[in-house]
Amino acid sequence: MARIPDEIIDTIREQADIVDLVSDYVTLKKSGKNYQGLCPFHNEKTPSFSVNPERQIFHCFGCGKGGNVFKFLMEHEKVTFVEAVHHIAKSLHITIPETARDQKTSSEAENLARVTQFAAKFFHEQLLNSDEGAPVRQYVVQRGLSDTTVHTFLLGHAPDSWDALLTAARHKDISPAWLEKAGLAKTNGDRFYDAFRNRLIFPIFSPSGRVVGFGGRALSDEDQPKYLNSPESPIYQKSRVAYGLFQTKDAIRRDGRVVIVEGYMDLISLYQSGIETVAATCGTALTPDHARLLARYAQQAFLAYDSDEAGTRAAVRGLEPLVVSGLWTRIVQLPEGDDPDTYVQAHGTDGFMAQIEQASTIADFMASQYDISDPRAREDVFRGMTNLIKKTSNLVHREQYKEEAERRFPALQNLLASELQASRFVGRDYNTPQPDETQETKPRNNTERELIQLMLHRTEITELVDEQLEPGDFTDETCRFIAEQCFVLLSNDGPADPATLMDRIDNEEAVQVIAELINAADSGTNFEQRAWDHIIRIKQNQLKREMARLMEQIKQMEQSASETLPETMAAYLQLKQQEKTLLQSAPQIEVGMG
Ligand code: UTP
Ligand code: MN
Repeated sequence: MARIPDEIIDTIREQADIVDLVSDYVTLKKSGKNYQGLCPFHNEKTPSFSVNPERQIFHCFGCGKGGNVFKFLMEHEKVTFVEAVHHIAKSLHITIPETARDQKTSSEAENLARVTQFAAKFFHEQLLNSDEGAPVRQYVVQRGLSDTTVHTFLLGHAPDSWDALLTAARHKDISPAWLEKAGLAKTNGDRFYDAFRNRLIFPIFSPSGRVVGFGGRALSDEDQPKYLNSPESPIYQKSRVAYGLFQTKDAIRRDGRVVIVEGYMDLISLYQSGIETVAATCGTALTPDHARLLARYAQQAFLAYDSDEAGTRAAVRGLEPLVVSGLWTRIVQLPEGDDPDTYVQAHGTDGFMAQIEQASTIADFMASQYDISDPRAREDVFRGMTNLIKKTSNLVHREQYKEEAERRFPALQNLLASELQASRFVGRDYNTPQPDETQETKPRNNTERELIQLMLHRTEITELVDEQLEPGDFTDETCRFIAEQCFVLLSNDGPADPATLMDRIDNEEAVQVIAELINAADSGTNFEQRAWDHIIRIKQNQLKREMARLMEQIKQMEQSASETLPETMAAYLQLKQQEKTLLQSAPQIEVGMG
């Protein structure tokens, strides 16, 4: 079988869930943020095998095996990488295009990714620099968006023209047919024309930062529809992409909660106002795939849909996937007619935060949606809620939801009790007592390893290290290799998460070290200061090695009364001075946000 393009591999890995996969083979129990179980790769009586759902990585402290979803299957089923990818693709109902198998040239997905990337840059340029973009820049300002926001979300403008993108693409040897495949051009008989015309463009990113599709907002009320969206393609499946997640996933992971909104503008407005833990479903219904995706990063969800009829209906339907996914769910009920964008613009960050703090329980929300003065209706609502509560696999949540429901509908508690009793609960038990986490997890206390660990946790740190050090500055071979790969990925595709990194490197040892470092306790704050400390230590060690080498020479020279002794001495002293300067150069990072 031929090579599968990275874009496809990324899509498959991003949509797979390592907890689901491993659960087919190993009984897992939740332990803190991770899951634990008996290692399937060596014999053991106490669990040292752990799965990290956020990072989508497994690792065993006992035998050292570690990796991502593909690696697990390769190890467990003794299959090749390509076979593992196909197997997981199949279970996700993703078809790997035939072209990817037998075409030597770029695959469809690779080409599509190139086309969308090109178009996103073109639209962005138009918005920033074109004469025609001036009124659109005005519109952007009028909607309260800053320059930083425009850059962060790569906002753009599709010119008011039938062929602006087509022409620009032709200059880059991108054919109209490819634009059409990416949903960026349409045909009328045999003539192609631009699909997005005179619209503010919102590129949609995959979680790893690839542009996979676009939303385009009309600039005047006469233009319909208000938003035009890319069709689905091999790189864009709407039910599985959350808008903004690429930009917000680190914050969501950090805070453990996510505010789910309907629209592009809702997400961007909240983000700009400092509420960065947001994801948007963008007009499509909230699917089980969305919920599972978000549950990788968060434990709590706040559903903040528009406060209009459509929004409320969508919120009611969105509850089930969220509850099933195990996310602790609350509903933000904004005043009638508001959406998160209008609300935060009018009431500020604090105003919106207050809405989150006083978000409704499921019971309160349901009660607000139906006329429960009629006893029959009341019982129906209650029954619907009971059915919903049953579906969470999280036993603690189940009890809490139940209490809330009983408080809201006191007269019906007996009904609830008997219905819950009757439901035979099967599912993963998330809440059995946790084995203590103090097991023999001792990542080597090695400055290079710790620096790599910080790089794996934070993209900014990789950027910093890339500026400050060369791969060759790492003395540990594996660390050097991992650092090198991180730098390469950073310069090619932009930031990547460790699970992606694992697929890019062909080095068993490095994969295991990455898994180990990710799974080792990620406590503490002040990442940047710690990174600087390590960087300086590494530079200092280097100087020390160089000084030791010179000192060796100096000793020999003293014996032989060499004439070059003074020069060598001077070189030594210079290094000594460098070391002093180095140690004084450590920036003092303010401990603050994030
Ligand atoms: P809204 O109509 O609430 O738009 O649709 P909005 O996000 O508040 O946008 P502004 O503030 O008026 O500019 C919510 C979301 O539904 C999808 C879009 O993703 C939009 O952000 N939608 C809406 C469409 O896909 N097509 C449409 O015609 C309208
Ligand atoms: Mn809206």
